[in-house]
Amino acid sequence: MKIRVILSLCLGLCIIACGEEAAEPGATVEAAVTLANGRTVAEQIEYRKGQYKKLGGAFKTISDALKSGSPDMAAIQAAATSVPEVTEGMVDWFPAGTGPESGVKTGASAKIWAQPDDFAAKVTAFETAAANLATAAATGDIGAISAAFGATGGTCKGCHDVYKTKG
Ligand code: HEC
Repeated sequence: MKIRVILSLCLGLCIIACGEEAAEPGATVEAAVTLANGRTVAEQIEYRKGQYKKLGGAFKTISDALKSGSPDMAAIQAAATSVPEVTEGMVDWFPAGTGPESGVKTGASAKIWAQPDDFAAKVTAFETAAANLATAAATGDIGAISAAFGATGGTCKGCHDVYKTKG
């Protein structure tokens, strides 16, 4: 009787353990958790990295254009317009559980969740600067664009210095 109980207990544990192993190789259990927005933790981290990559691309386009002797104004304007679109809802890109504790490779520091108000303020500072950059780009005035570009870049650094790790 006792042996039977122990056996069935073991079997139960094996099933739980095997179930976990059936997940993607190398993936943590946390990575597969589904968030309120319907994405898994791993998908959410991939999503925000992808958006930041697009943002980095738009910034490089503007930077390269400003450095060139004859800036491509259409390219600057398209890139500047894309920035608010690509970064829409940034403050919501970091649901609880999508930090380094998830086991998924991420450059998001745990400080984001420890200091949410300050992090949100950094997002707002960026959004304000990015809106000004889009407005400046629409005027076609290189001096105004350069100034707004510099100011926006400062808000990237302002956030990265505190909230981004090497990942
Ligand atoms: C409010 C904070 C914040 C602001 C503002 C911000 N970033 Fe980031 N950025 C992050 C965090 C956090 C990560 C790490 C995301 C992750 O790995 O999960 C990141 C990651 C990145 C990455 C790496 C993406 C990858 O994994 O390949 C690039 C590139 C990047 N940011 C560019 C920029 C640029 C350019 C700006 C400004 C125009 C900017 N960021 C503004 C917080 C910010």
